[in-house]
Amino acid sequence: MQGIQRPTEQIYSNYTAEDFDVWRTLYDRQMGNLTDHVSQAYMDALSEVKFNRDEIPHFGTVNEILGDITGWSLKVVPNISPQKDFFELLARKRFTATCWLRTMAQLDYLEEPDMFHDVFGHVPLLSNQAYCDFFKGISDIALEHLDDQRAIELLGRIYWFTIEFGLIRENGDTKIYGAGIISSAGETKNCLLPETERLDFDVRTVFETDYRTDIIQERYYVIDSFNQLYDSLPEVKSVLEEILAED
Ligand SMILES: [Fe+2]
Repeated sequence: MQGIQRPTEQIYSNYTAEDFDVWRTLYDRQMGNLTDHVSQAYMDALSEVKFNRDEIPHFGTVNEILGDITGWSLKVVPNISPQKDFFELLARKRFTATCWLRTMAQLDYLEEPDMFHDVFGHVPLLSNQAYCDFFKGISDIALEHLDDQRAIELLGRIYWFTIEFGLIRENGDTKIYGAGIISSAGETKNCLLPETERLDFDVRTVFETDYRTDIIQERYYVIDSFNQLYDSLPEVKSVLEEILAED
C-alpha cells in the first residue's frame, strides 16, 4: 500500500502480538480449507520447512533448511518486485519475499502480497527439487530476454498459471499447488468448483492466456507432475521465440 514503509529485513523482535494472531488465524483457516484439496507434494514440503501455526517463520532458519535441500534461499523485499528483478534473482535461486503481515482487518483481501502469501504460499515447495528445477528453468529463459518487455510478460503467464495458480493431478484427483491459491480462501474454494474452467497444461495455450491479478481466476491449468513442467521447458523456449519472431 502506498505510503506505508515496509521492512527490508526481518527483525523478529518487531513482530507484534497482532502479527502472531494474523499468522495463526490465517494458518488455521487455510489448513482447514486446504484439507483434501492441496497436493501431497505441498503437505510434504510444509513439514520439510517445519512451518506451524504458532511461529512466524524465521527467514534464517528457512534459508538453512532450503539451502541444505535445494540450495534456494529467500531475499527480503519490501514489496512485490518488478518482474525483471524477480526473474533475475530467481535465476540465482533467490526467491523474493516480504517479511510483514497484513492486519486483522485485512484478513480476507489485500492488494499486495504479504508474508502469508509469499512464505506460507510459496516457500514450502522451494524444498521440492523437481519444482525448483522448473522454476529455475523458467527464470533462466527469462534471463535471456530480460530487456524484452514482451518476452517477460509472456513468461509471466507461464509463471502465473503454474507457480501461482497451478493445479496438479495426484492419484486421479485434481489438487492445488499454486501459491496464489494456497494463500487465499476465495481461490481455494473457486478453483475446484465443478463449473470452474480447468484445462490440461499446454505451453502454447498458456502463452495465449492473459490474466488479471485483481480478480478470482476464471481459468486454471492442470499438470500431471512437476517433471512434466520441467520437461516442457524446451517447448517454452521454442514457442516463446516463435511468438516473439511473429510480433
Ligand atoms: Fe506469489
